[in-house]
Amino acid sequence: MLLMARKLRVVLGGNTIVHNVDFRANEGELIGILGPSGSGKTTLLKALSGVRPAKAGKVVYDGRDLYADFEELKLTIGFVPQDDVVPKALRVERVLGYTADLRLPHFGKEEKQGRVDGVIRSLGLANSRRQRVSRLSGGQRKRVSVGMELISRPRLIFADEPTSGLDPALERSLMQTFKDLAGEGRAVVVTTHIMSSLDLLDKVCVVDQGKLVYFGPVDQIKDFFEVDDFVHLYGRLNEVPIDKWQHKYAASGLRAKFLGG
Ligand SMILES: Nc1ncnc2c1ncn2[C@@H]1O[C@H](COP(=O)(O)OP(=O)(O)OP(=O)(O)O)[C@@H](O)[C@H]1O
Ligand SMILES: [Mg+2]
Repeated sequence: MLLMARKLRVVLGGNTIVHNVDFRANEGELIGILGPSGSGKTTLLKALSGVRPAKAGKVVYDGRDLYADFEELKLTIGFVPQDDVVPKALRVERVLGYTADLRLPHFGKEEKQGRVDGVIRSLGLANSRRQRVSRLSGGQRKRVSVGMELISRPRLIFADEPTSGLDPALERSLMQTFKDLAGEGRAVVVTTHIMSSLDLLDKVCVVDQGKLVYFGPVDQIKDFFEVDDFVHLYGRLNEVPIDKWQHKYAASGLRAKFLGG
């Protein structure tokens, strides 16, 4: 297991935003965090990645305490924020080159160039490598934003709604890219609202009002929530009180199987 979180509780401005959430990620898995707007997805992602630690609970990454050893462990963790921070005036290859200078200070020039070329290839950015970021489409810019995080070859990647604002084809292809990145032996965790690409996910974590209502395989989600289509998931969440879902989840055996009880 690459990442294990136990009983995460996040308190912001005096309010508990994330309530005792457990989470696990293995190498090779693409995991989606789903939930209505304001349900705590971004907050949970920040707690899982160490970007903003939880107030209570524990995150174990690669067998070590993520919060205690964050300065060292963060070097192998990528975090793609919801609003990208890609400098617009630069060309794509310069952005990635500067990122390499920053993240890989001990690498030689050629090694860094190799990383930049590899990222450009794996994200399908070859045709836009000499373009300025300001002239890229939204989807291409998202790819550059992801690329900045791939330069250091993280084993664990978090991306906060990376596909928001993309058309369905670009959305699908970026999700497929994440799937491929996971397939290379990483764990990739994304928050998303988009139901059409759920089939690409290995596991899904559903939160509502900061509480975990489901964590497990995507192919059992329709059965669990008794819906015939993923699009009805949020509606179902509203129809049934959260504690009922939580009891159902615990009683289903899914918790024992996928979160260790
Ligand atoms: N810094 C903060 N201080 C106080 N409350 C906050 C803070 N950040 C977020 N919240 C609250 O926490 C709750 C969850 O926010 P969060 O951004 O995690 O939701 P989300 O699921 O990512 O929503 P969205 O789908 O809209 O991105 C919201 O009610 C929000 O108002
Ligand atoms: Mg969010």
